[in-house]
Amino acid sequence: MAEPADPVDWEAKYREGATPWERPGLHPAFLDWRARGVLRPGRVLVPGAGRSPEPLALAEAGFEVTVVDSAPSAIAAQTARLERVNLWAQVVKADFFTWEPGQPFDAIYDQTCLSALPPGLLPDYAARLRRWLRPGEKLFVLFVQTGQDGGPPFHCDLSRMHELFAPGEWEWPPVLPDPYPHPVGFTEQPVVLGRV
Ligand SMILES: C[S@@+](CC[C@H](N)C(=O)[O-])C[C@H]1O[C@@H](n2cnc3c(N)ncnc32)[C@H](O)[C@@H]1O
Repeated sequence: MAEPADPVDWEAKYREGATPWERPGLHPAFLDWRARGVLRPGRVLVPGAGRSPEPLALAEAGFEVTVVDSAPSAIAAQTARLERVNLWAQVVKADFFTWEPGQPFDAIYDQTCLSALPPGLLPDYAARLRRWLRPGEKLFVLFVQTGQDGGPPFHCDLSRMHELFAPGEWEWPPVLPDPYPHPVGFTEQPVVLGRV
């Protein structure tokens, strides 16, 4: 699959308003996981959170939220939103390929972050996700399905995802739920992966 010729300038995209991945509200997968109690309060990491509303919703639901993103506009948006509520949240401006948390998390919520990364970076990213999560806890991830070469977002071929999140290291559900359509046209496969 083709890699981008240049690294993506996410900050420029926020400044230019070129953010087609942003949904108008909370992700339906998030609402489902929260309503069914699969996503249980604890210390949760949202990598590449951008300006998404889920970190605030998590904080309001009683989670201890940590957000990490490298784009200043994303950090400013999350900080402003989370500072308005008097809840525990940490907003970190960092490149998550060099950042390490002090201790692993009870849950990770990845929404269009993994799919934003060039496929060549995914083995490193998947290893980090495993390291950042406590054994026995869960990764809530949306695997973008574009069916096309190139990106972002990059197509997350499910066979490739099984290689990256290998059984033995990760527990997959026996049956995957239906994917969610995204307003822009691709679909997103929700998966809850148990960290072995
Ligand atoms: C496609 S956006 C998704 C944003 C958000 N999750 C959402 O659903 O709206 C990808 C985000 O990942 C962030 N990102 C990409 N690579 C990163 C890296 N190496 N370290 C930290 N953040 C990164 C970008 O700044 C951007 O905010």
